[in-house]
Amino acid sequence: MRIFHDKRTRKRCKIYAMLRAQEKRAHRSFHTPGHKKNGFDITELSYSDNLSCPRGCLAEAESDVAEILGANKSFLLTDGSTAGVYSVLKAAKLQGASSIAVCEASHKSVFNACAILGIAPLVYPQQTRNGIPFPPTMYALNEEFPDLFAQADAIFLTSPDYYGNVADLNGISAYCRENNKLLLVDGAHGGHLHFDRALYAGEYADLWVDGVHKSLPALTQGAMVSARTETLADSLRQAVDFFRTTSPSYPIMASVEYAVKYPRNIRLENSVTEYARTNDRIYFGGDWTKLCVVFGETAFAAQAYCEKKGVYPEFCDGNVVMFYLSPATRQKDFRFLQRFLGKLLELFPLQQKPSELKRAIVTPKNKETEFCELHNSAGKVCAANCGLFPPCTPLLCVGERITEEKLRLLETADNVYGLRDGKILIFKD
Ligand SMILES: Cc1ncc(COP(=O)(O)O)c(C=O)c1O
Repeated sequence: MRIFHDKRTRKRCKIYAMLRAQEKRAHRSFHTPGHKKNGFDITELSYSDNLSCPRGCLAEAESDVAEILGANKSFLLTDGSTAGVYSVLKAAKLQGASSIAVCEASHKSVFNACAILGIAPLVYPQQTRNGIPFPPTMYALNEEFPDLFAQADAIFLTSPDYYGNVADLNGISAYCRENNKLLLVDGAHGGHLHFDRALYAGEYADLWVDGVHKSLPALTQGAMVSARTETLADSLRQAVDFFRTTSPSYPIMASVEYAVKYPRNIRLENSVTEYARTNDRIYFGGDWTKLCVVFGETAFAAQAYCEKKGVYPEFCDGNVVMFYLSPATRQKDFRFLQRFLGKLLELFPLQQKPSELKRAIVTPKNKETEFCELHNSAGKVCAANCGLFPPCTPLLCVGERITEEKLRLLETADNVYGLRDGKILIFKD
């Protein structure tokens, strides 16, 4: 498989070695999966270990990965970071956390998990600058919303976020330790940061998710969830058991082990960082894998132009177009991107300084809800979180007054979540 291209990394991978060895043996498949093709896509057989009670290559891979990430225990996930987020929140609940501070630009899985687990999230508003949401600062904890954070048994952060912003993990973890709170981190976009301990979630968090497939060379849906201590690991083990599939994909698991063991690409990191820091149309939040190019009003047109030229960015939020890199990005592809962006920035100048998409949360007069045509919903109060997909973070939250500007964004975006047949759920007047 092309994904396992690095020979030296491959040699250190326990799951890959098991799969390769078996490929050379006779194997008639009278087991799942139904395609009967064997190869790497097998099921849990006598030689391939079992993810629910690993003793062989899966146990070794999990243990190697935990050591690299600096965890007491790490669990392989083939259900994306979504399963990791659910597991972290469930484990925190098993540890007695019932109120959890959650930032409003959290991924939809966070709100869904809270709903399923009966956690009432304490949602804190985020600052935005040039339309980009920022993680909370110590100022937010101590000065802006001290009561909200004081009430919480745990703080849930996303770091880095989809824009590459890295939270003040050092400050917030010290606050959590002093105040006896759990620190939970969604690192769906930060698997590669284990190389850079100062920025890495696992250096500070009690429980954290690494979305390996997003920023490291793993197959889509490959992720890890980890715990700092043995006690937390026990809760996480129980939690993972609730949400993990009983048919884990071996290609995905093998690719996660491979991706975590994949070498650092320091040359690329330095070139990208230098480029991002010296280009004033590029927003740089601290994480080199995310190049956020600011276009303002012309963002969707710029994205369409890219795709016409066969260049596919990660997402466009109507302001920023984000290009995702990884240690497996080739230097020549980055050089291409630099040339391409040079042209793109000339073609699509920043037309208008993007406005701050501030939230106006109100208490609805009526608790009854109904679906309303998007174009008729300005001024109404939103009754279900919705937003662009990706980044899958709410553009409008429950209780928020719907503005023309946000409506326009929802109408223009290619993919949205939280709407039904183009209608938005609102509280009746
Ligand atoms: C911040 C964040 N958390 C969690 C997820 C869920 O990850 P996955 O798609 O791997 O389930 C995403 C997905 O984009 C995300 O952006």
